[in-house]
Amino acid sequence: MTSVVMIAGDGIGPEVMSASQRILQAAGASLDWIPAPAGLDAVEKFGDPLPDQTLDLIRKHRVALKGPCTTPVGKGYRSINVRLRKELELFASVRPVQTLPGIKVPYEKVDLIVVRENTEGLYAGMEHVVVPGVVESLRLVTRDAAERILRYAFELARHQGRRKVTVVHKASVMPLSDGMFLKIADQTADDFPFLEYEQQTIDHLSLELALDPSPYDVLVMENLFGDVVSDLCAGLVGGLGVVPGANIGERYAVFEAVHGSAPDIAGKGLANPIALLRSAAMMLDHIGQRDAATRIERSVRKTLEANAGLTRDLGGTGNTESITERLIANL
Ligand code: NAI
Repeated sequence: MTSVVMIAGDGIGPEVMSASQRILQAAGASLDWIPAPAGLDAVEKFGDPLPDQTLDLIRKHRVALKGPCTTPVGKGYRSINVRLRKELELFASVRPVQTLPGIKVPYEKVDLIVVRENTEGLYAGMEHVVVPGVVESLRLVTRDAAERILRYAFELARHQGRRKVTVVHKASVMPLSDGMFLKIADQTADDFPFLEYEQQTIDHLSLELALDPSPYDVLVMENLFGDVVSDLCAGLVGGLGVVPGANIGERYAVFEAVHGSAPDIAGKGLANPIALLRSAAMMLDHIGQRDAATRIERSVRKTLEANAGLTRDLGGTGNTESITERLIANL
């Protein structure tokens, strides 16, 4: 039995979390859930959307499954997700994107992984007013963080039997920062001669992804590029309701659906649990419970293909309960 910190989150968070927990149990996952607060409830109880005790629990148990959390806007709180990544050094965001049966999209064979640097770039929080009316936002790139994310992406490609790594940049405009990033990419690629390696500018990549995403395999890039490309790629296969996500560090890992707390449907029993469930399957893989992870992935595909009991965001007329029942029956 592996201990896993469970952050249910806000809005539809508790609904998709409890559905996922039922499916995980039925799939034979052996997990001991350690509940931890974050989001609006935590603000009421602890005056902080990400209380220290939650961070301490993740440090203790190392792995967490997180539902979407609402960061109160305009009240002086920093984004929960940005803080989690910073405090726990979750330097790599990993988003696998694959076409799924039963979901109509213009592309047939998308099978790629977006690896995004999570700790610096324009998200390093270095913004200041130079003089009134002039604001500077600094884009931080360090050798250490570049080496860490690039090596992670190549190792991931090797580990998962992938064939190609594409390093994304804009070195023509940022020759120092992205120039260094590319130099480190060249050095890293030397250690992986069995993998195809290419460099591509962010603008050209965007064009190519819209035209034909099928040639891409593992994509690695800095924070802002990665933020945008991750969501773009989710759109290629049916949107945020179906793609999983993980934030990985050297010591800790937090797995989470990438959609938000969906206040428009919260409490109505309409939420689709697949994104969180697939994130949980990534977590099972991470902690070595591969059989249960495979069973869940197969059930998701079978359920989507059968096109019965699906939630409205998937074009069905069902709800959280009906899709959960189908997912359990198809395990
Ligand atoms: P959202 O992802 O919550 O909702 C966008 C649209 O997608 C809505 O129509 C919603 O009903 C639908 N949707 C999202 N997830 C769904 C699911 N599992 N099943 C069915 N339909 C689903 O994005 P929005 O409205 O921009 O953000 C709402 C709140 O979520 C904000 O407070 C934001 O801060 C928070 N948020 C949290 C994230 C996290 O914790 N990882 C990520 C993104 C937003």
